This record gives sequence, structure tokens and C-alpha cells, in this order.
Amino acid sequence: MRISVVGSGYVGLVAGACLADSGNAVTCIDTDEQKIRWLEDGYLPIYEPGLEDLVRRNVRQKRLAFSTDYASVAKAQVVFIAVGTPPGDDGSADLRHVLAAAAEIARHLREYTAVVLKSTVPVGTTDQVREAMARLTEAEFDVVSNPEFLKEGAAIDDFQKPDRVVVGTASERARKLLAEIYAPFVRTEKPILFMDPRSAELTKYAANAMLATRISFMNDIALLCERIGADVDQVRKGAGADRRIGYSFLFPGVGYGGSCFPKDVSALIAAGRETGVDLEILKAVEHTNRRQKRALVDKAMRHFAGAIAGKRFAVWGLAFKPKTDDMRESPAVEVIEGLLGKGATIRCHDPVAEAVAEKHFGARISYAETPYDCVEGADALFVVTEWNQFRKPDLTRIRQSMRLPVVFDGRNIFDPEAMREAGFVYYGIGRR
Ligand code: UDX
Repeated sequence: MRISVVGSGYVGLVAGACLADSGNAVTCIDTDEQKIRWLEDGYLPIYEPGLEDLVRRNVRQKRLAFSTDYASVAKAQVVFIAVGTPPGDDGSADLRHVLAAAAEIARHLREYTAVVLKSTVPVGTTDQVREAMARLTEAEFDVVSNPEFLKEGAAIDDFQKPDRVVVGTASERARKLLAEIYAPFVRTEKPILFMDPRSAELTKYAANAMLATRISFMNDIALLCERIGADVDQVRKGAGADRRIGYSFLFPGVGYGGSCFPKDVSALIAAGRETGVDLEILKAVEHTNRRQKRALVDKAMRHFAGAIAGKRFAVWGLAFKPKTDDMRESPAVEVIEGLLGKGATIRCHDPVAEAVAEKHFGARISYAETPYDCVEGADALFVVTEWNQFRKPDLTRIRQSMRLPVVFDGRNIFDPEAMREAGFVYYGIGRR
């Protein structure tokens, strides 16, 4: 099948590369000329395990091409829209890029085309895009909602082996095309769920908001554990063992970040406000998340009795989660800004996010080549991202090179008992 993908960011690149890999002829379009030149040369603007190889292989085999030009749309049977929907001032999703892409697509349509919205968009956008496009073209087309559920760091796997594919359309023609495109990736027990566009649009928000709610709920329980002398790990296992609850997304920590959860939760609250529905649970989810991002700095303030100015701190992890260099809404930003604001000096280590961090912090913090260099002479270590390479360090070496053996573990990656035995003053999240 001939496919165009408009928007060569995270979602667009993963979708484009995976769809090319399953045998389609795909053109990824982006208005950013520099980005398209890089991609043509085989360089990716983002870090995602396995994606660079997938892109290069499919470019070599001539199934995947890049362009700043919408010409390929004229011959495509399916066009995906995967442009950004950043939050506006009131938290609602800004649809400027989606509408601009839709207008440009409309101008290039020739024969029947299914236009598929992969960007996360507010309920009603599929209808809005169809109406806007109908004003610009005589060609036949359908607009389909097909939200993306991929996780950064596991995006290719999530695309190729999805839990489900959600397709929102009333058109039989569009359904057939989407069923054909996704056939290589779904199995009987992992179905394509066909539904109306509004339900499909809301499914994405509901899923992300539900997951964010689980995290904030556990962060509240963790705080309660600290106050009443319980251990959140035990509580998590005990509650998660109930099949109705399950174990995933119950890890307390320094709060959720990334490009999706914060944005989608606030967009859903805004959608509720516009329609007269007060989504109080989600407001509390946001409130808890803000508090949680400050949790490590609060603990440090208590430990040092407020005397943080002039201290030298080590920070392990900058990305909002492991296996990505994405720092959007990363709790690390909050932790580092909090400590800098109180006059501390910061030295960081992250396996891949340092280049991104440099853009954000400039020369306000310094970077270390290894986790061990990072802790040299430090007054405390803050663990903010749970990279695997941080999990089993040589504790003796770390304790000996730190000035003060204090660890604030924002991801509970260390065993409190082992830390104390190794001579550390240890603070986790929700632990005794
Ligand atoms: C998320 C959704 O999982 C994905 O389906 C959607 O398409 C996009 O948003 P992503 O943002 O890549 O994906 O990351 P995810 O792995 O979901 O983690 C989000 C945040 O929650 C991270 O900051 C992570 O550290 C935090 N988290 C996750 C927790 O604090 N505890 C958990 O138990 C799980």
C-alpha cells in the first residue's frame, strides 16, 4: 500500500518505519528541512532503541522516503497525521499543526484517501478536520481516528505488537484499509477495536489519564506509608496481586513526566471544563504529581535542616524515564531547579540525555562521564531516573568517593537494608 505520514516526530517516525518494514511504500513528510535532510542521511532527531536501524534498513530497501513536499499524498491510499498537539495556555491541546497539515493534505488529494489522525486530539477533532478538509477539496476521503499508544523506549515493540489497535470510523472503506495495514501486527487475542471517532479519541485520553491516576494514587499511598511506618513496596505487591488491580504502573517515584501524561491529563481537565464536567479526580492527580516532583528536594531540605546552599550534589538520570533522551516534563528538571534555586552545585550523569540537558541548563550544571565520576566529592546523591546501569553499583566505591554518604532514591532502585549496611543514610519513596 502507498502511505504518507505527515509529521516526522516520535509517533510519525515509528509508524512510518514500522509500516515500511511490513511492506508498504511510505513517505514521511515534515516541514522542517533540516530534520528531513538528517533523516535522509540516516540520522534520527530522537533517541529510540532500534529505530535508527529500522529507518536505515527501510530507506536502503527503498520502502521508506522523506520529504518536505506533500506531493506523495496524491498517490497515497492512506495518509497519517502525526504532528504535535502541544498544550495551549489553558491546558487544552493546540490544534494548529493538525489543521495546517489537514489543509495541505486536502490540497493534494486526488482519489479516495483515508486520512488517519494519529496525533492525540480532543474529542470532536476528527469531525472538525473532516469539515475543514471538505471545504478545500472535491476528492473523496474519510477522516479516521487512530490514537497511538506507544511508549518511549519501547515504541517499536509497542507498534509491532500492540495490546490493541483502536480505529474510530463509520466508513466501511476506511475500515478495510486500516484492517489491511494493521493485519501484520494484530492477532486474534490482540484485536483491532473499531468504534466511532469520538469514542476512539476519548479512549486515548482515558487510558493515559487512568495510568497517571494509578501513579499519583500510589505516590499518595507512599507518602502515607512514610508517615505511618509502612512499606509501599509491600503494599504495592499486596494490592497488585489482586487480578482486578494488577502490578503495572503502581511504582511510586518522583512523579510522572514525558510528552503524554502531563499534557493529556490537563487536556482532559480542559475538555471537562468546556463541557461542564468537573474532573476532580484528575485535578487531584495533577496536584499530587506536582507535589511528588518536589519530594526529593523536600527530603533533602529536612535532612540538611535547610542548609543546602554551597552543597555539591550528584544527580543520576535526567530523562523522564529510562531508554529515552526525552526530558519533557522530566522530574529531573524540577529536582535540579529546586536544588540550584537553594544555592547548591549540581553534577549530573545520564547515559543518553546529556545533550538534551545542555540545551535546557546550559552551563548552570556540569556533567560527568560515568556514575562514579558524578558522585566524586558529593554531599548527596539523587537518583531520578531508573536506568538499569544505576541498579547495581559498587556501593563501597561510591561511599568512599562521596563527601557525605547520603542517598535520595527517587525510584526505589536500591535495597534500603543493603544501603544502610554499606554505610549510607538512605531515603527512598514510601519506605521505612
Ligand atoms: C505513555 C503511555 O504509556 C503510552 O501508552 C502513551 O502512548 C504515551 O504516554 P510514555 O510517556 O512513553 O508513554 O511513558 P510511560 O512508560 O508510560 O511512563 C510515563 C511516566 O510515568 C514516566 O515519567 C514514568 O517514570 C512514570 N511512571 C510509570 C511511574 O512513575 N510509575 C509507574 O509505575 C510507571
